[in-house]
Amino acid sequence: MTAQILDGAAVAEKIRADVAQAVAERLAQGRPAPGLATVLVGDNPASHVYVRSKHKACQQVGIQSFGYELPATASQAEVEALVRELNADPRVNGILVQLPLPSGLDEERVLSAISIEKDVDGFHPLNIGRLAQKGRDPLFVPCTPAGCMVLIESALPDLNGVNAVVLGRSNIVGMPMALLLVRANATVTVCHSRTRNLREVVRQADVLVAAVGRAEMVRGDWIKPGAVVVDVGMNRVEDPTRPKGYRLTGDVCFDEAKEVAGWITPVPGGVGPMTIAMLLQNTLRAARLAG
Ligand code: GUN
Repeated sequence: MTAQILDGAAVAEKIRADVAQAVAERLAQGRPAPGLATVLVGDNPASHVYVRSKHKACQQVGIQSFGYELPATASQAEVEALVRELNADPRVNGILVQLPLPSGLDEERVLSAISIEKDVDGFHPLNIGRLAQKGRDPLFVPCTPAGCMVLIESALPDLNGVNAVVLGRSNIVGMPMALLLVRANATVTVCHSRTRNLREVVRQADVLVAAVGRAEMVRGDWIKPGAVVVDVGMNRVEDPTRPKGYRLTGDVCFDEAKEVAGWITPVPGGVGPMTIAMLLQNTLRAARLAG
């Protein structure tokens, strides 16, 4: 094995401890605890798991969390009314609408209804628009790409002119990731299902972020020797030898890639914990913006 492990779990633990300390200091000054409201619409099992872990993380650092659940049959007006209610609630500094929303709901309209000062996911069109423009700064940056940047910069603090390849162009990860890398002066290529000669493009990457949701798609011989490899994938693959009958694997074949890469994130324990740490950081920031 040649690659060094980018230990997201350890970095996230340090960030959580820093947030916990800042929250404790605010409480000692007589300020209220930061508050995060989650909005979960419908019964997507993965979304329920993610939201539960966000609440647990809040509890551990002293952030108050408020969980709101609506049925999959909720109307657009009902979801937007809840968001507006939370916009007006002084206990709530951050609002997180878990995605994906059930089909039939207009995601863009729901996200646009969130007050930008409470947009701790950074998905409001104004925040994303500012992220995409030179000389403008969003109030919040989407949590998963922000967490990836922390890990990438821990390996490679200066991204000036490096070749970065982002696999995937989702609103939640791929596109904001590419925008963050551009802002750090990397030369960025975004690959997707229509990309030609994918392996050859990926082989040029000094920094590779894989976020396509296909188990072990990136093989060892796709990786440039010494590259920083960040694996956002979280895929279940059947494995009868495991108690649950499956194991979690990334979009990168870890066992092959670790022999070639310079740095690599494990799955689990890489990007996942960083997403939640960034959410806590954003919620603290939202509380500070509120005073
Ligand atoms: N669904 C998958 N990832 C995320 C995320 O970071 N935020 C929200 N709101 N929904 C998600």
